[in-house]
Amino acid sequence: MRLSREELKGLMKNKLIQAGLREDHADQTAEILTWAHERGFASHGAVRVEYYCERIFKGGITHEPNITWNQTGPCSGIMDGDNGIGYWVATKATEKAIEMAKENGVAIVGMANVSHTGAIGYYTEMCAKEGLAAITFCQSDPMAVPYGGTEPYYGTNPISFACPTADDRNVVFDMATTVQAWGKILDKRSQGAEIPADWAVDEDGAPVTDPHKVNALVPIAGAKGYGLMMMVDIFSGVLLGVPFGKHVSSMYHDCSKGRELGQTIIVIDPERFCGAEQFKKNMSQTCDELNAMRPAPGFDKVYYPGQRALMRRDKAYAEGGIEVVDELVDYLKSDAIHFDRYDHKNRFAD
Ligand code: NAI
Repeated sequence: MRLSREELKGLMKNKLIQAGLREDHADQTAEILTWAHERGFASHGAVRVEYYCERIFKGGITHEPNITWNQTGPCSGIMDGDNGIGYWVATKATEKAIEMAKENGVAIVGMANVSHTGAIGYYTEMCAKEGLAAITFCQSDPMAVPYGGTEPYYGTNPISFACPTADDRNVVFDMATTVQAWGKILDKRSQGAEIPADWAVDEDGAPVTDPHKVNALVPIAGAKGYGLMMMVDIFSGVLLGVPFGKHVSSMYHDCSKGRELGQTIIVIDPERFCGAEQFKKNMSQTCDELNAMRPAPGFDKVYYPGQRALMRRDKAYAEGGIEVVDELVDYLKSDAIHFDRYDHKNRFAD
């Protein structure tokens, strides 16, 4: 079913309020979920609402969090989210980082004790819209083996970078550090199909093609992706004093408890380096040169990161709205808050 932006955001917001979330927290959460969904990141859109509602309803997301800000230096600080909804805390922390970077050139802001913050490109794009360059990374629940290991130790630990250009384009690079998300394994299971041998491993750490035998996901690019995923956990977890590595809480385990996740954002004002105008001009030139390059066989064009997401968004609206599966729309319109689908499931619950 196709929905307008307002319809989808409104339905999600209402449902989150119904589960117990404050109006302003629900509004911002629904905004970011819509941002992800309209760009084709369906895995980080409306499909998440039922899980969030279960955790909100059961108290694992604090309804009235006591969010505190500890400015530890001119360019640094930690926002403690008191396990409030991650989307709200991360937005507030990013606003703080933008303010500090504009004032002092650079800002490094940690977010401690947050719940899931979703598609993290939203926060770096917030900075790019203000003419700033940004990097953010966050923890997620352990489901990937370290390179050469047999047990899940790190999460899909995503990284996002964003930079402004001299025109309206923003370059937004936003990726998980695993080859595939768990959702893709579930897709293959439901289709009765095999998975490529480089997506996941079994109990012995050996590559598997049977999606039912998957014990853990694998990092991108072998040892290099493992190193990246570890650094994400260090900079967004170890550095902030929250649980790290295999001690990071699972998304689906005990929805009555706060998740205590960490995220860090680094914001840079290009004015303090080559100059804001020069930076944006050079960024536009880079994007134009990449787009103008002759594509390799099998490719229609060379895109810059984030470009195809905007094309997906524009195409969806041109075709009558954002595609949302009927079952999900039925849930959003229903009186049900949750169906006990997630609580106390293992780390690989659907
Ligand atoms: P993806 O694989 O779809 O894209 C990764 C990056 O590659 C994007 O920046 C995209 O613009 C770029 N890209 C893809 N195809 C391209 C092409 N042909 N040309 C140029 N650039 C191209 O993203 P992934 O890894 O599946 O992540 C999806 C979302 O999931 C992200 O928003 C991420 O933040 C989110 N996520 C959030 C987690 C959390 O715990 N909060 C955990 C893991 C992922």
